[in-house]
Formats: sequence, C-alpha cells, structure tokens
Amino acid sequence: MKCLTTFAFLISSVLLTNATKTPSIVIIGAGTSGLSAGKKLLENGIQNITILEAESRIGGRINSVYFGENYVDLGATNCHGEKGNIVYETVKDLNLLGDTQYPKDFYYSSGVKVDSKFSEELIKIMTSIYPNMVEPAKNMSLGDYVIKYYNKAINEKFGSDKEKLNIAKGAIYFLETVALSDENSPSWFDITIDNDFIPNEGNTWLNWKGKGYKTFLEVFLNNSGVHEKVIFNKEVKKVSYDASKKWQGVTVSCSDNTQYVADHVIVTTSLGVLKENLNNLFEPELPSVKRKAIDRMGFGVIMTVALHYENPWWENDSKGFNFIWSKEDLENSVSEFSEGPHYNNRSWITYICGFVKADLNPNVLIAWFSGNLVPEIELISDETLSDGLTYLNKKFLGHAYNVTKPDKIIHSKWRANPHFRGSYSFQKPEAEKRDNPTNAEEDLAVPIKNVDGRPFVHFAGEATHAYYFSTVQGATESGLREAGIIKKYYS
Ligand SMILES: Cc1cc2nc3c(=O)[nH]c(=O)nc-3n(C[C@H](O)[C@H](O)[C@H](O)COP(=O)(O)OP(=O)(O)OC[C@H]3O[C@@H](n4cnc5c(N)ncnc54)[C@H](O)[C@@H]3O)c2cc1C
Ligand SMILES: *[C@@H]1O[C@H](CO)[C@@H](O)[C@H](O)[C@H]1NC(C)=O
Ligand SMILES: *[C@@H]1O[C@H](CO)[C@@H](O)[C@H](O)[C@H]1NC(C)=O
Ligand SMILES: *[C@@H]1O[C@H](CO)[C@@H](O)[C@H](O)[C@H]1NC(C)=O
Ligand SMILES: *[C@@H]1O[C@H](CO)[C@@H](O)[C@H](O)[C@H]1NC(C)=O
Ligand SMILES: *[C@@H]1O[C@H](CO)[C@@H](O)[C@H](O)[C@H]1NC(C)=O
Ligand SMILES: *[C@@H]1O[C@H](CO)[C@@H](O)[C@H](O)[C@H]1NC(C)=O
Repeated sequence: MKCLTTFAFLISSVLLTNATKTPSIVIIGAGTSGLSAGKKLLENGIQNITILEAESRIGGRINSVYFGENYVDLGATNCHGEKGNIVYETVKDLNLLGDTQYPKDFYYSSGVKVDSKFSEELIKIMTSIYPNMVEPAKNMSLGDYVIKYYNKAINEKFGSDKEKLNIAKGAIYFLETVALSDENSPSWFDITIDNDFIPNEGNTWLNWKGKGYKTFLEVFLNNSGVHEKVIFNKEVKKVSYDASKKWQGVTVSCSDNTQYVADHVIVTTSLGVLKENLNNLFEPELPSVKRKAIDRMGFGVIMTVALHYENPWWENDSKGFNFIWSKEDLENSVSEFSEGPHYNNRSWITYICGFVKADLNPNVLIAWFSGNLVPEIELISDETLSDGLTYLNKKFLGHAYNVTKPDKIIHSKWRANPHFRGSYSFQKPEAEKRDNPTNAEEDLAVPIKNVDGRPFVHFAGEATHAYYFSTVQGATESGLREAGIIKKYYS
C-alpha cells in the first residue's frame, strides 16, 4: 500500500512538473539543423527558444552567394535523391529543382581532346566501379577497392591499345578527385566502402536552377517565426551542465561574456568544431561514448571555387570540361606551375577534376578542390588562384579555345573558418560494423540525461544522422528529431 502511494506520488509529481513548466531551449547554431529544431519547437507551442549563431548569417554550410548573374553555392549544392528526402518533399511541387548535366568531354594533359566514344567508354567503366560498387568488398578502403577493380577493368578493355591504356591509367586521378570531392576525405584510403549511408531513390544531382540551396530554407522556414529567435555574432565558448542534479538547467557561455541558462541545449555545431573543441567546449567533458564517437567519424574538407569571365570563351551550350592528367605530367606539375602548395611534386592545380558551367549563370565556371591539400589551397591568394587555374585551362583547353583570365573569383574557406573546420563528415574504415557494433552518428545523437532521466543536453547536425550524415536532409531531420524528443517529454 505504501509502495503504491509513493508510486502514485512520483507519477503525479513528474506529470505536474512536466505539464506546468514551459521549457526554455538554447540552440547553438543557425544551420539547417538548428533552424529545423527551432521551427518544430515553435510549431509545438514551445516559444522560449534562443538560437545562438557565431556567424552573421543563417544557413551555416548552406551558403548561396550572388555571383555573376545568379547564385552560386559555396556549401551544399545539390538535392540528393527524391523519395523520403525532406528537402525534395518540401519543394517538389514548386518547380524549383532542375536536372544537373555534367560534362562528358575529357581533355588530356597533352592538350588534346579525348575521342568522345573513348570518353564514353571511360565514364562507363568509372561509374561501374564508383559510385556503383561491383561487389561488396567489406575489408577494403575505397582507394584500395577502386584501384583494384579499375585497373582490372581497363586492362581487360584497353590492354592491347597502349595509347588508350595510358589515358585510362591517368583517368584514375580524375576518378580519385571525383570520389574525394563526394566523400570529402583527405585520402581515399581513409574512407570505408561499406558505409551506413542510405541514398534516396530518384535523381541524386538536382540543382536549384541558379537560385542556390538557400531556396530550400526560404520555403521550409517561411512563416515559421524562427528567424526572430536567432542572435547573430554569438560564439558559444562553453556548455556547462550537471547531470547529477534534478531540474538543473544548462549554462551556455559566449565569447562576449554573456550567459544563457536554459532547460535544454541543442548543440548543432559541425563535427569539425566538436573535434577541435572537445576538451574545452563542455564542462564536465562529454561522456566517453560521445568522445569516442566524435573521434571515430571523419571530417574532411572540399573547396568550391567560382570563376567569372566578362566574355565566356566556351560554347554557350557547353556543360564544362573534365581533365585527365598523365602520370608523368601530374608528377611534374610542380615544376610547370610552382606557385602555391604542392605535395609529392603534385601542384595544387591538379586537385580538381575539371570545370562545370554554373546553373543558369552564363559567365561562370565552377570547380571543387578535394584531397589532402585543400586546407592549404583555401589560403592561396585570389591572384595565384586565378593564375593557376588559367594556366590549367590553357594547358588542357588552349588548343580548342581562346582561354582568358577570369575577372572575378570567389571560393569557400570551410576549413579555415573556426565555426566549421571543414565541410562534412564521412565514415572511416574504423566505422565498420566488424570492429564497432554501434553507429558513431547514433552514439553522438543520444541526448545526455539528468539523474532523473530528463534529456537536457541534445546533439543535432549532419554528423548525428545514422544514415543521412553529410547531407542537408540528414542535418534537417536531426533537428526535427531533437525537437521531437523535447516535445514528447513535455506532452
Ligand atoms: C562545400 C560543401 C558542399 C556540400 N554539398 C552538399 C550537397 O550537395 N548536398 C547536401 O545535401 N549537402 C551538402 N553539403 C553538406 C551540408 O551543407 C551539411 O550537411 C549541412 O548544411 C549541415 O547543417 P548543420 O545544421 O548540421 O551544420 P551547420 O550548417 O554547420 O550549422 C551549424 C551552425 O553552428 C554555427 N556555429 C559553429 N560554432 C559555433 C559556436 N561556437 N557558437 C555558435 N554558433 C556556432 C555555425 O556558424 C553554423 O551556422 C555540403 C557541404 C559543404 C561544405
Ligand atoms: C525563458 O527562459 C529563461 C531561462 O529559463 C527565463 O529566464 C525567461 O524568463 C523565459 N522567458 C519567458 C518569456 O518565459
Ligand atoms: C576482414 O578483416 C577482419 C579483421 O581485420 C579479418 O578477421 C577477416 O578475416 C577479414 N576478411 C577478409 C575477407 O579479408
Ligand atoms: C511564404 O508564404 C507566403 C504566404 O504566407 C507566400 O506568399 C510566399 O510565396 C511564401 N514564400 C516562399 C519563399 O515560400
Ligand atoms: C546560346 O546562344 C544562342 C544564340 O545567342 C541562343 O539562342 C541559345 O538559347 C543559347 N543557349 C544557351 C544554352 O544559353
Ligand atoms: C620530387 O622531385 C624531385 C626532383 O625531381 C625528386 O628528387 C623527388 O624524389 C620527387 N619527390 C617525389 C615524392 O616524387
Ligand atoms: C582565337 O582568337 C583568334 C584571334 O582573335 C581567332 O582567329 C581564332 O578563331 C580564335 N579561336 C577560337 C577557337 O575561338
């Protein structure tokens, strides 16, 4: 009887406290995960929310800037897939997305255009190996895997034609650059082939028809009221919590010495920021399962560069150009173009796979730098960038076009910026189920609870999504997930 009374008392006390309290929430970061969390909390009547954003704009790694005659994305660019993708589902009836046509023309570092039938054969071989894996090779890194199967395929197909075989051999550097810019790791020996990512069905390369990825946020957040909750230029330095006490809030301290106290905090800073500040952002330090998760995941960087030309020197229906370096030219590239960083005698100019035409932006070409040199490439001056890329275009395209120097250039600096420290997460070979039964993204996602079981230190962001990590859809869903946990707790 006594037992029952105590039990009943406990229940009513919890219910009473939960029901009467209007919780306060601090969200760290106004990227898509923080904003989606804020939107969902507001929709559920939880009004006392504050979003602290270190930068002076919303969007985080969604950053569309006006350049040329339209918007260019320095961060997220494409909507990857349709079915089940919250980004696609949000805008699908609004005619905002277009199909991306990638260039099919290859140029060789000798300056000649690769025969188009041979180019087609090369593309077919490449796509049959990456991203479409021929067979599950669970124990291999992406690099080992591609090298093995690609070399096998080109030897079978072109083994008797020395000239073609040489070009095909060089094309592996193209494939490596493409793979690294998709996976954004410094090396393809650092990427697991057997990862947990689940691609959405449908078109994987939808573009925003020159209006930029910001279009998604405009539609998704329209009339949500979330914008008014954001405080800009608020860099959080410390998150202090005490899980041993009941109903204890979280104290969030900023670099300008202001403090915010709330019942819940949702941390949405990138994995790069978490890695860099692991020992000073949280007080006490995070539980070891989270520290391990943060360590197990990889966080790389790619660099977007956009070039504007007063007078385009390419055909107006061109989709862009792919570049294939011969092994010899690649290894001599630093002696040909010596300014700027290099690695193993490979100049930084070899770290892109070509140029694409910007969407509905006729005077603009775009490229993505990938691989281990990107942190240094980000720091190259505009003048050297412009010289190097012009040298590159003249080398590959000079026979076919009157290549000129761009009159404007912009590029991203995701690694250099302390509020990002890179572009997005990837799974390292250590992530494989064989060695780790748990998914590191999920380990990071689980909220820290108080002694009484109340979740109060929450984590959202791209790197907390078990199978859509690295994408806008994953980030957006993660914010909705944490808002859902808070809502459920108070309902
Ligand atoms: C070059 C590039 C290309 C990409 N391409 C694609 C693509 O084509 N398709 C796709 O789906 N995804 C792509 N992505 C990934 C996508 O952009 C991200 O997964 C997503 O935008 C991450 O959102 P988020 O809310 O998790 O993090 P963020 O956008 O990083 O948001 C976190 C916010 O926290 C803020 N912050 C950081 N530190 C602090 C602090 N101490 N105090 C306060 N605020 C802080 C940051 O300024 C930021 O605004 C790309 C990313 C990059 C960089
Ligand atoms: C919001 O929460 C904070 C911190 O708990 C509290 O000080 C403040 O009074 C609350 N504001 C409103 C309008 O309830
Ligand atoms: C894969 O790696 C594990 C652990 O390193 C090893 O035990 C196993 O034999 C390997 N399997 C294959 C097919 O190589
Ligand atoms: C926002 O909503 C209003 C109606 O409330 C609508 O007129 C407007 O077009 C919407 N804007 C976007 C970007 O969806
Ligand atoms: C290319 O230019 C021609 C003639 O000016 C124009 O009719 C056509 O629409 C342009 N094509 C593209 C893809 O811009
Ligand atoms: C780079 O070039 C120099 C000079 O030709 C050579 O001695 C050196 O071995 C090369 N390094 C690599 C890593 O290829
Ligand atoms: C390049 O410019 C020269 C001189 O203006 C011209 O004769 C030539 O046709 C141009 N070539 C191309 C490919 O446009």
